[in-house]
Amino acid sequence: MQSSRTGRTGSDVLVIGGGIIGLVTAWRAALRGLRTAVADPDPGGGAARVAAGMLAAVTELHHGEQTLLGLNLASAERYPAFVAELEAASGQDTGYRACGTLAVALDTDDRAELRELHALQQRSGLTSEWLTGRECRRLEPMLAPGVRGGLRVAGDHQIDPRRLAGALLTACERAGVVLHRSRAARLTVVRDRATGAVLSDGRALDADQVVLAAGSLSGVLDGVPDEVRPPVRPVKGQVLRLTVPRPYAPFLSRTVRAVVRGGQVYLVPRENGELVVGATSEELGWDTTVTAGGVYELLRDAHELVPGITELPLTETRAGLRPGSPDNAPLLGPTALPGLILATGHHRNGVLLTPVTGEVLADVLTTGALPDFARAFTPLRFGPTPRRPLPPVRLERTA
Ligand code: GLY
Repeated sequence: MQSSRTGRTGSDVLVIGGGIIGLVTAWRAALRGLRTAVADPDPGGGAARVAAGMLAAVTELHHGEQTLLGLNLASAERYPAFVAELEAASGQDTGYRACGTLAVALDTDDRAELRELHALQQRSGLTSEWLTGRECRRLEPMLAPGVRGGLRVAGDHQIDPRRLAGALLTACERAGVVLHRSRAARLTVVRDRATGAVLSDGRALDADQVVLAAGSLSGVLDGVPDEVRPPVRPVKGQVLRLTVPRPYAPFLSRTVRAVVRGGQVYLVPRENGELVVGATSEELGWDTTVTAGGVYELLRDAHELVPGITELPLTETRAGLRPGSPDNAPLLGPTALPGLILATGHHRNGVLLTPVTGEVLADVLTTGALPDFARAFTPLRFGPTPRRPLPPVRLERTA
């Protein structure tokens, strides 16, 4: 890091936001030889502190999201090598488990919806296997007797997002990334070029390239010209954590999820006994209140799926904010403002898309262009952004 005569500090790359997307960008940039800094009051925090960590490219497939599917699959494919490299670089375990996923149906309507998903997966060339209710319960004996059928997705795995964030933070520090533990208050633009940011403590940071990777807050950073402001909005998710007491009785051996009365619920079992239950999806602006209704609905649906969960201690309740985009896909790469690059809008797929985002952003930062396979995710696809209707942010840092 260099200090100029004006007392400003400079780097090749300044990443605004130290969640998993900002950190993977910084780590990959530093490995490519770029002097890199990150601005965040709480690096390693953000939405990853709440997320369950499903790597669900196949089970979370939606109609109309074929392009996003390609990126999701590209990232899922990179996960094993990415994790091996990150664990070696940080000396930390990320909790990656290649355990697969079982998606089940509890009534006739749920089964019809799951059949639809199976057909869509088949049309998309994806691998999933239809099972009867009895076959589902043979795989997961804790499932409710009423389960009507399900889909076994052998390739959808999980990681512990908190450990992932911790490992990325250590890897960044070891790679020489400078961490400014302060909030970026304003983007600096000089003569139609992004040149850095001013922090909430008043420090000014200069950089040749600025990456805006602040999750749901990316859409409300001061100083970003309206025409390049990312159209990202907060989408609230409430998530519960239960604990399977020691010694861990086999409870669930893989991620189990279901459509229950049209809503989605998932249970993600970790090897350390944590059982994550998620998640609501609420368009409530910056609200991160954990509500009685949210907890009730998650427990009600999870109990219908796996009745034994009511015996477990409820150890944590939290809400986080997904960075939603208009087409549910991320915004990656250069904007129309020279020097300003985006890595945001990952919505439900931030954890899954971490490896590929790091690679794509490192390419952008070193070559100036998106690699071919990621061109569809250019922020330019939305054109100039209209003035945003979002209310002012009330939170210090939420996602
Ligand atoms: N991908 C899971 C969620 O966003 O709830």
